[in-house]
Amino acid sequence: MPELSYNLLSPEALINPYPIYRKLREEAPVYWSETFQCWILTRYNDVVTALLDLRLSSERLETLARLHLPQLDLGILDNYLHVFGKGMAMRDPPEHIRLRKIASQGFTHKALKHWQLLVQQVANDLLDKIQDVGEMDMVSDLAEPFPATVIAEMFAIPATDREMFQKWSNAIVKFLGGSFGNLEEDAHSANESVIKLESYFNELLIERRQKLGDDLMSLLITGYEEGKMDEKELCAQCIQILVAGHVTTVDQFANGVHDLLQHQSQLKQLQSNPNLMNNAVEEILRYNTSVPFTQRLAKVDLTMRNKRIQAGQIVLLSLAAANHDDDVFNSPEQFDITRQDNKHLSFAIGPHMCLGAHLARLELKIGLENLFKRLPNLRFAEDKLPQLKAESLMFRGFHSLPVRF
Ligand code: HEM
Repeated sequence: MPELSYNLLSPEALINPYPIYRKLREEAPVYWSETFQCWILTRYNDVVTALLDLRLSSERLETLARLHLPQLDLGILDNYLHVFGKGMAMRDPPEHIRLRKIASQGFTHKALKHWQLLVQQVANDLLDKIQDVGEMDMVSDLAEPFPATVIAEMFAIPATDREMFQKWSNAIVKFLGGSFGNLEEDAHSANESVIKLESYFNELLIERRQKLGDDLMSLLITGYEEGKMDEKELCAQCIQILVAGHVTTVDQFANGVHDLLQHQSQLKQLQSNPNLMNNAVEEILRYNTSVPFTQRLAKVDLTMRNKRIQAGQIVLLSLAAANHDDDVFNSPEQFDITRQDNKHLSFAIGPHMCLGAHLARLELKIGLENLFKRLPNLRFAEDKLPQLKAESLMFRGFHSLPVRF
């Protein structure tokens, strides 16, 4: 099939990739993309199978970097590869299991009960500042500060450092996603950002070791002091959890507000029946996920639907395409906050399933509840256009989303 039929980089596809995902699911579910030089999986069952298949490795950073920058010396990415690459998201068993076990104590139901008050408080404080203004940019005034302040509090780091660590996190994520811009520039910027985050955390870690508390950083330090991980891994875990803990939720929050405002009858239904909020959050996650793709690296040759995937090749797993597979979801293109049995893959599945899924759900629920309760008249600003963030296949959100109330 000619590559043009599935051009995920066309201006229309960047705005709305779902028609191409459908074509791929129907015509080429295991597809070799010449443009990206990797395989793309789009059917729900195939994506689940791949997420559970340990022959597909998460240790993919270096191969991805080589794909992005075939002509360049990867020396320019030394810190990105060797620090960021040491965190759990980029590791295979047994290291992955060891590292995840330490961090997961910070995300139990009991731990989240503790953080629930904090999430509520942060949402209230931000809305207090905005309530009387009459208009705002949903992204910079609410979606960005909300999860970033929550994760800063969880790490017990100054919330005033937010803009700094958000800038570094965005740079890392931009390169990780394989941006459509200047990849060499993005590589430098991702590497610089890892260096800055590493020295930021190293300083904080020295201080915190003198006085441990009940925060996430102290929990990770305890794991290190008990000999369960080395110093590089400790820093990498802090960086990965910080980055994963807000960039994705910022985008998902903005995507959710956008989709609710665009589907007024659904929004009215939610406002008249707030008990639908949990359901609405799941539909927001399914309909327009902020993490449309993840990637794996084939460790050995394997076959999927008669296609030979060779050892060393990258496989892109489209969580967004799987979420719109009509073998699994009725009328998947419909945004329906009453949808039942919503088994979306926005947090993936299997060993690497999102560690922060409960926290993300809690933030979305509390944030949206408060937003629509306190600003019941929320609507798109008629004279300002939203600016979609579609710079890479892997992450999707808004640069800005102007609203009035
Ligand atoms: C709506 C928001 C979020 C979405 C859509 C999301 C999505 C995902 C996905 C798809 C993965 C699996 C990637 C893979 O298998 O390659 C993942 C992993 C991860 N997420 Fe999230 N995430 C969100 C929020 C969060 C939050 C709030 C945190 C923490 C505070 C977090 C921490 C992590 C970590 C640490 C991993 C790696 C887990 C592992 O490798 O075992 N995420 N996330």
